[in-house]
Order: sequence, then C-alpha cells, then structure tokens
Amino acid sequence: MPMKTPRFIQIYQDNAQVVQQELVQGLASNPAHGGATTSPKFLYDALGSRLFEAITELPEYYPTRTEAAIFRTHGDAMARQMPKGATLIDLGAGNCGKAASLFDRFAPARYVAVDISVDFLRGALECLQRQYPALDMVGVGLDFSRTLELPPEAGANDGSPRLLFYPGSSIGNFTPDEALVFLRQAHAACGPVPGSGLLIGVDLVKDTAELEAAYDDALGVTAAFNRNLLLHINRLAGSDFALADWSHVALYNTAHSRIEMHLQSRRAVTVTWPGGHRAFVAGERMHTENSYKWTVEGFADLLQQAGFATPSVWTDAQTTGQGRFAVLWAPAQTP
Ligand SMILES: C[S@@+](CC[C@H](N)C(=O)[O-])C[C@H]1O[C@@H](n2cnc3c(N)ncnc32)[C@H](O)[C@@H]1O
Repeated sequence: MPMKTPRFIQIYQDNAQVVQQELVQGLASNPAHGGATTSPKFLYDALGSRLFEAITELPEYYPTRTEAAIFRTHGDAMARQMPKGATLIDLGAGNCGKAASLFDRFAPARYVAVDISVDFLRGALECLQRQYPALDMVGVGLDFSRTLELPPEAGANDGSPRLLFYPGSSIGNFTPDEALVFLRQAHAACGPVPGSGLLIGVDLVKDTAELEAAYDDALGVTAAFNRNLLLHINRLAGSDFALADWSHVALYNTAHSRIEMHLQSRRAVTVTWPGGHRAFVAGERMHTENSYKWTVEGFADLLQQAGFATPSVWTDAQTTGQGRFAVLWAPAQTP
C-alpha cells in the first residue's frame, strides 16, 4: 500500500498581530492587577516542545510515567469503551507519542494532531506517518485557548465518531472556570455521532514536596523550559528580555490547588518592545503557568457540567495504591 502524506492546516500563525497584542497586554499588566503574566501556550516554540519532551524523562516528573502506566495496565479495558473507526483528535499532540502508543488498541480510522507548536508538530507527524503509512493523518496548527473549532479536514461531517484525546493533564493549565468553557467546546466538538467522547488525563492533588520537585527538577530542565519563554516572546513581540536577568520559580499554591511557575527578576530591569516598555523591580515575578490539580470527584463533576455523561475512571491507585494521576473516558452522550 502506498504511504499516505499527512495534510497540514495552519490556522494559528495567521493571527500574528493578535498574538503580539495579547502578549504585550499581559506583560504590561501592573502589580495592582496581579502583575505581569503570560499564557503557558507561549512556552511552546520548537525548542520549548523539545525541552518539554526532556522534562517527561526526568525522575521528578511523575505525570507522564504514571499516565503511561495507566494506559499500559488499563488500555484493553479502555479500548472496549472507545468508538470503533473513530477520528482520533489529539489536543496538544506534542510529539504524538501518547496517541501513537494507543493506535494498535484503538484502531482509529483517522488521526488528527492539533498543536500550537506547528514546526515541531510537522516533524512529529511526518515521522509517525512513516510508521503508520496507511493511516490518514492531519496536522492542525491551532491555538485552542481561543477556539476549539476544528477545520472540516479534521473529519467533520464524514459520519465517523470522534475520539477527543487530551492527555498529560494539560487541562490543568486552565483555571477551573476556563476549563469548564474548554470542556463545553470539547463536548460540542464531539459532534452528533453516537459513541463519540473525550479521553482525558488529569493530575491529582498530592503532597507539596512531590509537586514542587516535579516542576523544579535538580537538572534545571524545567527552569530552561520556563526561561526559553523569554526568547520566544522576544521573537513574537520584539521585546528585549535578557535571559541572565530571570530565574525560574515553581511553588504549590495550596489555596488554589495549583502549581504556579514564575520568572523572577534578579535585579531591577526595564524591558522594551516596539511601542512600549515595562519596569520590573528586583525580585518581581512574572506568572508564566498554572497547573491545577484535581480530585477525581471534582473533575468528574466538571465533565458532567460541561455536558458529558458519567465518566469511567482509571487511576494508578488501582495498581500502586497511590492515586497520583487519573484517566477519564467521558462519553458525549449517555450510552
Ligand atoms: C504539556 S504538553 C503535552 C504534550 C503531550 N500531549 C503529552 O501529553 O505529553 C502540552 C502540549 O499542548 C500544546 N499547547 C499548549 N497550549 C496550546 C494551545 N493554546 N493550543 C494548542 N496547543 C497548545 C503544546 O505545544 C504542547 O505540545
């Protein structure tokens, strides 16, 4: 059988001016309004995506390993609930490795990989197509924090059920209110075909020391990932952040059940960009990422508020007794 070629639909890069405006607005926010902030999506340029891949191999970073173990242990049970001949839509696909590890069990009819980090996604998808030459593959460069409207090439109206896949606890980057909005959009994106639904990985509330180590590893890879954001912003917004002026901070905010990543200025600095500037005092922080931790009950409730049916849940508690991470299958309609 001849090898198929992945198709690419690039939506995100069309909005370069909007991206610049969003960045500058977050950078200019003053301390009375919570201080400078940037969206975690800006952590992912091609280098950011590679650094994230390295993070997943660190001894301190338990989420990827724990989630993979849940798929290994419970993959067959999951597969029995998944729709057959589905369009598998991987939200924030990264290197596409997690979805690919499920192809044999889930046997999708088409694979749609969605990511904001377009160059990295292209490389990953072209490589994956060589391993699965007969599978129809589509790459979509999309910022789904703006909209989860997928292009028709992602299988709309072809009559196949949709299996939305959102692993890695990326949902934790949204506040609970934003997560509900996102899940409502995911529910709509499942479409009307029976059997469609969302398979999602969620990181669970746990001990502060384990959480903080996972986001501030001894090798400093997470620090590099966070600081690389400045190089990415300099390219997107034309700013002049100097790497040497900023250090990585990760702390668990117990009141909000979230890990916060910040960049903290090592001295007083003024950062400029075309048409604006922002002074930071020594020690001032710029908030770069939240990673909310959930309870299984709280997240199952959120899914149902978003319109999904009662989810099936698998956690590592079933094998290790620890309950660090959960994978939930939420059918779009009550079966
Ligand atoms: C934490 S990584 C997870 C990667 C992979 N799915 C995994 O579980 O290992 C988050 C992924 O989502 C992508 N991403 C982050 N924000 C995004 C957005 N607003 N729109 C589209 N993709 C986004 C990143 O580029 C990255 O590949």
